[in-house]
Formats: sequence, C-alpha cells, structure tokens
Amino acid sequence: MRDVAKNARPKLSRSLRLGLLIAAIIGLVTGLFAWRQVESERAIDLDDVARRSHVLAQQLSDRVVHALTLPDEQARAQLRPRLEGFRRLLGYAVFRADGQLLAAGKEVSEFTGRIEGAMREALRTGKEATQLARAAGMRVHVYAQTLPEEGAPTGVLVVVHDVTYLDERVVTRLAQFGFWVLIVTLLAVALVVGSTWLAYERPLRKLADWMRRLRTENVAEAPPGLPSGRLHSESDRLAASFRAARSTGKALSEAALHAEQVWTPERLRAHGLAALGEAHQLIVVSNREPYMHQWRDGKPRAIVPAGGLVTALDPVLQACGGVWIAHGAGDADRATADPGGRLTVPPGDTRYTLRRVWLTREEEQGYYYGFSNEGLWPLCHIAHERPVFRADDWEQYQRSNRRFADAVLDEVGAGQAVVLVQDYQLALVPRMLKEARPDLRVGLFWHIPWPNPEAFRICPWGPQILDGMLGADLLGFHLQQYCNNFLDTVDRVLESRLDWDHFAVELRGSRTLVRPFPISVQPWSERHVPEGENLVSQLTALKEQYQLGDSFVAVGVDRVDYTKGLPERFRAVGRLLEKYPQYRGRFTHVALGAPSRTHIPRYREHLDRLEALADEINWKYQTDSWKPIHFLIAHHDAKTVHAFLRMAPMGIVSSLHDGMNLVAKEYVAAQTGGNGVLILSEFAGAARELADALIVNPYDTEQFAETLRTGIEMNETERRARMQHLSRQVEENNIYRWAASFLTELGATRAPGAEATNGNKAVAS
Ligand code: F6P
Repeated sequence: MRDVAKNARPKLSRSLRLGLLIAAIIGLVTGLFAWRQVESERAIDLDDVARRSHVLAQQLSDRVVHALTLPDEQARAQLRPRLEGFRRLLGYAVFRADGQLLAAGKEVSEFTGRIEGAMREALRTGKEATQLARAAGMRVHVYAQTLPEEGAPTGVLVVVHDVTYLDERVVTRLAQFGFWVLIVTLLAVALVVGSTWLAYERPLRKLADWMRRLRTENVAEAPPGLPSGRLHSESDRLAASFRAARSTGKALSEAALHAEQVWTPERLRAHGLAALGEAHQLIVVSNREPYMHQWRDGKPRAIVPAGGLVTALDPVLQACGGVWIAHGAGDADRATADPGGRLTVPPGDTRYTLRRVWLTREEEQGYYYGFSNEGLWPLCHIAHERPVFRADDWEQYQRSNRRFADAVLDEVGAGQAVVLVQDYQLALVPRMLKEARPDLRVGLFWHIPWPNPEAFRICPWGPQILDGMLGADLLGFHLQQYCNNFLDTVDRVLESRLDWDHFAVELRGSRTLVRPFPISVQPWSERHVPEGENLVSQLTALKEQYQLGDSFVAVGVDRVDYTKGLPERFRAVGRLLEKYPQYRGRFTHVALGAPSRTHIPRYREHLDRLEALADEINWKYQTDSWKPIHFLIAHHDAKTVHAFLRMAPMGIVSSLHDGMNLVAKEYVAAQTGGNGVLILSEFAGAARELADALIVNPYDTEQFAETLRTGIEMNETERRARMQHLSRQVEENNIYRWAASFLTELGATRAPGAEATNGNKAVAS
C-alpha cells in the first residue's frame, strides 16, 4: 500500500496544479474583463457629471458675464449668493481673465488652489476643460468654462462636484465582480479536478494497485476499468505476459530448489505421461523425420537431419515411446520401412515407431519447398527476404497437411491419443484432427518466430492458417513475444474471442491456450559420442585433417540458410583479421554448414555466395599452413559436431532472426571443461535465456569483430564464471523439462467431448 500512496501523491498534486492553473487563467481573464467593464461605466458617469456641469454653467453664465464687468466688490456682492452648492454640487468659483479668483462658494473656497488646473487649461485653449482632483478628503470633478462664450474671455466659471461616490461605486462593482469570478473559478476548478479524478486518477490509482498486486501476489482478476480501450487491452496483455512469465519463473525457482533433480528421460516418462493419462498414446507429427535413409554405395545409410526440431524431439520420443509421423524424404526411406511406412528407431534400437508419409514430387515441391519455405519461412523471419505465395503451392500445402492428418487418424484408430503437431509446415493439421476427432488432445508447437500482425497479413491465406492452428488445445512458441504477436494477429485477422487474461483464443466453440515454452537440448552425456581417449584421438585427427594446429578455433554449426547470418559472421572474421593482424595464423573459424532446401534457387545462390565470400577472405589472409575460414559444407553427424563443439574455445551463433537456435545450447551443453565463450546474436530466441553469452548484433560488423576479440582475450576467470551460469541454465532447463511442461499444460486443457484424465497438475520441477 505504501507504494500506492507514494505514487498517488504526486498524481493528486498534479491534478491540483492543473486546477490551479485553470483557476489562474479564468481569474485573470474574467478579472481583466471586469476591470474594463467598471472602467467604462466610470467613464460614462464622469461624462454625465461633465454634462450636468455644463448645463449648470450655462444657467449662470449671463450673471457671471455681467459681474465680470463690475469692480471686484460689487461683482462679489452680486455673485456670492449664487455660488453655493447643494449635495454633490460643491459650488462654483469665478476667475478673472488674468487668473485671479473673483469669488467662490464657501466649500469651494477651501481648496481653490486644487481647481486652478482646469481654469488655466480653459483659459489656454479657450474651450471648456475638466479635471479630477483630490481635495478636502474628497474626489472632486472640476469643470471650467471661459466667459463670455463668444469673443475674448473676461473670466472663467468653474463648477465643482463631489464625485467620491464614483470611486466607491468602482470598489463595490469590483467587489461584486470579484465575488462572481471567485464562484465561477471555484466551480471550474472543482469540475476539472473532479472529472480528472474520476476519469483518470481514480482508474490509474486502481491500475497501479492492481499492477502492484499482479507483481507481488497471484492476482486472477481482470484489470480495473480504464479510460482508454487501448490501455485496457495493453493491461490485459501485460497481465497475461506476467502470469506466463510467473509460471516460467515458478518452474525456474522450483528447479533451483531441486537443483540436483535435473529432469531425466525416466522422470519425463513417469511424470509427463502421467499428466496425460496412461491410456493415451503419444503421437508426434512433423514434416522432418528424425531418421532419414539414403543410399550410400548401394546400401541404405541412416542419417539424422540437421535442425532444431529433430534435435529436440527425438530424445522426448526415445524417453516416452510412441509414434512419430513424418515425411519420408530420404531416397532409401521406402526400402527401409514396412509396407505401412513404419519402422522402429533409432536404427538398431526400438524406442519408438517412425511412420513415414509418402508425398508425390508435386506435393513436396508445392507444400514443402513452395508454401512452407518460400512463403511461411520468410514471412515469419525478419531477414529481409520477400515471401512468395503461389495458389498452386497453397493447394499442395492443404493436400499434404490432409495426408499427415490422415496418417495421424490412422495411427490413433479408435484409441485415445495426445498429438503433438510440429511447426509451420503443418499449420492446418490441428483443425483437421479436431474436426475428425474432437476428443483428441492436440498441441501445436511453432519452432520459428511469429511475426507481427502487419507482416503476417500479407499471407493471402492467413485466416485459414490461423483457423487451422486454432484447432489445437495448446499452442506453444519459444518466447512470450511470439505469443503476444500471435494473439495480436488473431485479434486483427479473425472474428474470435480473445481471452487476454488467460492468453487463450476461442473460435467456433474451441479454446486454444497460447503459451511460451523455450525449447532446449538433451545432455551430450546421453548421446553416443566419443569421450575420454576416444575423443582425444578424434580431436587430434580433426586438427590434423584441417591443419588447425594450435589455432584458437571458433566454431559455428548451421543449416545453410539466409536467416543464420553466415555472411555477416564471415565479414566479422575478415574485419577482425584486418584490424588486428596479430590474429592471422592464430584464429580459425570452422563453419559446419549443412546444405538445406537446395531445390530453392535462393538457397542455392546463398550457398554459392557464401563459398565465394569465404574464398575471398581466405585468399586475402591465408598462408601456406593456415586459412582463417573452414567452411565445411556437408551433412555432419552428431559425433563430428560434438567433437568440434568440444574442441572450440569459442562458439558463434549469428542468426539474423531465429525462433530459439539450439546450437547455442548445444555448444554450452558440450562445455564440460567449463571455459568456452559463446558469441550469440541478439536476434536468436536463445539470447533471452543465455544472458552470459557475449551478445552481438550480426549486422554491426565492427561490433561483431570487436566481440570476437573480447572473446579471444577474455581471461579464464570470467570465461569460467560465464560458462558456469550458462551451463546451469541449460542443464536445469533441458529438453525433458520442456516436454514435461508442454505435456502437463496440454493435459490440463479440457478437450471437448473427452473426460479430463489428470485434473490440473502443476508443472513439477
Ligand atoms: O529449428 C527448427 C527448424 O527450423 C524447423 O522449423 C525445421 O523443420 C528444421 O529446423 C530444419 O528445416 P528443414 O526441415 O526444412 O530441413
């Protein structure tokens, strides 16, 4: 409460200040007006007095003209009885033409010296003259007229009035005006302060109180009514983000409490599946398959395709069992599966079933290369690549999504299942599944960023994409920011009900929760990669093969994609060597590049340009025994990737935009020595979690080069401290925690027509 009181005080005084300012303006304006009014009334009154004086002077003028022809004594004797006044007329005075007083009324004779000004003025100009003077404690009006009116003047007749009452009238009028000005001002101030208080201050104080409670307690109530609709909806979003962040934070703090209980495959199997109900089969469906078979020397050889999706999901399926449905894209895939497209994996093991979906060449071209990777991929990534949307591709996208959905329904049969749909290639599948089987529990995880509504709106089939996605009970993104963007997009594009308070969308009777789940990796210790002696000999062999010697190795592992910032990274390496020649021969960048989507011309061009750029930089700096960039374009297996990650004291991730980027986490997870340095692009989702990396803007070549230098020169203490934090972060938030969180949240959603099997279980640490 103290916070609120502290914040409220300046707000109150601000509104009072506003009231006082308005009061001052009203006071000044009405005061000026009143003053002018009173002054003009006073001028009219004085004019009246002057007119009256003139009439009186006219009445007396004949006698005075005659008297002026007489000697003084006689003249006085004649004039005296006529010169006395009555009430406000104080009396008259008569002067000769030389300015000598001839005679005056009794009262006027007491201050004749004060009335001479008007008399002299009249003599000087030959016209009547008036004067206001203070005399005998009064305000007097003096009117002087030369006589006779025609010809040379022989004297001056002066008429004197007491006009003190006019001053008094001014004061009274001003007081009256002042009173009304005060009343009007007070009313205006009361109106302004009152309405500001009711319309803004009170709601804002309530908002402040609500925000404080949102921060300190777990408030479920909606934000208070606010003066602006925009502010209201922003508060809703803030609350939802806060709650989402709190639930992540809660998971983190619970993780800290159980630091030693890092999530394991066993724990995921026991807890994660319990969250869904034992009767449910787990089905993952994605475009990319976890194991692909290709012919090599007449024999089928299994490879693990590059990409974060496979890296993340394979350990989950290995832990939980189930079926993974994916496109059979390898040329030896049919030969290695049964007639139903099924085989058990990993090869040589039977942890789960891979069910391959067969697509025609046209389907693959339109759905995967076309709509998914020339349309949705650049649409969702800010890498300044123009999306291409073709109607034929959209046809194939729909048709192929139907194929995947049919495969899922075929696997489910009459049973119960939890279906985890993966990524942008399958956006329509959740709705297709729910239309056929409303009782299925369906989650969709979007592995790439979600753009802002303006960017998304260019997709001609945006509403259909959103509708398809909103078939899911739970929709996951890596970051809260993508969840916000998604809800904003739905808000703009679809007629639906948005529940910002719970971060949910209701559309055609179905409800979709939207949540952030930052994806992660499996510990390297669980993978079959060389360790100890075997690793040492592997590293020695690699160093010899690439003539790395004692060079400081900085490694990058990427699909060759224009979103990964490879040209930017190569240029930063070039700049480093240009600016700091001492690193020539001592620093080597090894870029492991997996060719990707090479049927798309843009990807082929990108690969060609990269090779040319690497050549150019190498040509400039290389020596007989050293070259700065080893761009190794090939499909590298996990053992090779692991060896380079272990060998390199520096890992580089330079994405121009990336949903998460698991290579950053893979590098950290591989640092068993605890002293590697991670250089991480601020535009990769991972940068939100891995704050102890050296964060770079890949577009800023100068800064990038300097950061490389900082990383090379960083002392061991700092390197270890940073890597310790990073390792703890990755270890505690591994892929099993991610899967458990997603499954638990999905388990807690209520699928229409199906009984909730587990109630509302919280994500355990
Ligand atoms: O990081 C995840 C991801 O980008 C997926 O979205 C994608 O499926 C994968 O990596 C690799 O791309 P592709 O499947 O086209 O080879």
